[in-house]
Amino acid sequence: MKRKMIAAVAMAAAIGAGATTAIAHGGASGVVKERMDSMEALGDAMKELTAMMRGQQDYGAERVRSLAATIESHGGEALTRLFPKDSLDHPSEALPAIWSDWDRFSALSDQLSTYAQALAAAADNQRPAGGAQGGMMGQGMMHGQGMSGGGMMGGGMMGGGQGPTAEMLAQMPPDGVFFHLADTCSACHQSFRKKQN
Ligand code: HEC
Repeated sequence: MKRKMIAAVAMAAAIGAGATTAIAHGGASGVVKERMDSMEALGDAMKELTAMMRGQQDYGAERVRSLAATIESHGGEALTRLFPKDSLDHPSEALPAIWSDWDRFSALSDQLSTYAQALAAAADNQRPAGGAQGGMMGQGMMHGQGMSGGGMMGGGMMGGGQGPTAEMLAQMPPDGVFFHLADTCSACHQSFRKKQN
């Protein structure tokens, strides 16, 4: 679990770095430009969250809620409406699979908003000592916040591809929710964006 969390933070940083490369995307126009701008806003929000989760920036629940609200507002339909069928004009990095697997694409888009809401809900939860590296899931989740122990940890939840529910996330330390949020970004990018990070 610990290694997974570190990987998630590193990955979130890589996603954030995407926003810098994006400056090279001059020439985008119309809906492609709109969605690149929207994705960059997501990248910026994740970058600051990453810094907080890593302890490079002071943790502030209020700030986390505000960044989570930004992410939420870019997910769901706000995201999917920026992907009208076959909109692949240069320099888009989107893949045609978006439209052949629209259900999954829109599910991930909804999940982004749902998990951002869960992060806001969890912003005041107890954080594991030592920040992100402190072993988020193990202690954190079982910390007597009404999750009647046992069972769901290992296999169940990390297994099958389907993420945990918003209710489960809202009980976790914010670092844990952040992990799942970052995972949603990368799950979508892996399937629906040309490889680059
Ligand atoms: C539902 C799918 C989906 C989700 C969820 C998603 N993205 Fe994206 N993202 C894309 C697609 C598709 C592109 C490529 C868009 C294009 O180039 O036309 C993209 C591109 C980007 C880019 C590059 C933008 C540019 O200017 O080229 C960044 C940065 C980015 N995403 C960050 C994020 C972050 C951070 C998150 C999570 C908070 C996230 N994305 C969640 C699908 C998604």
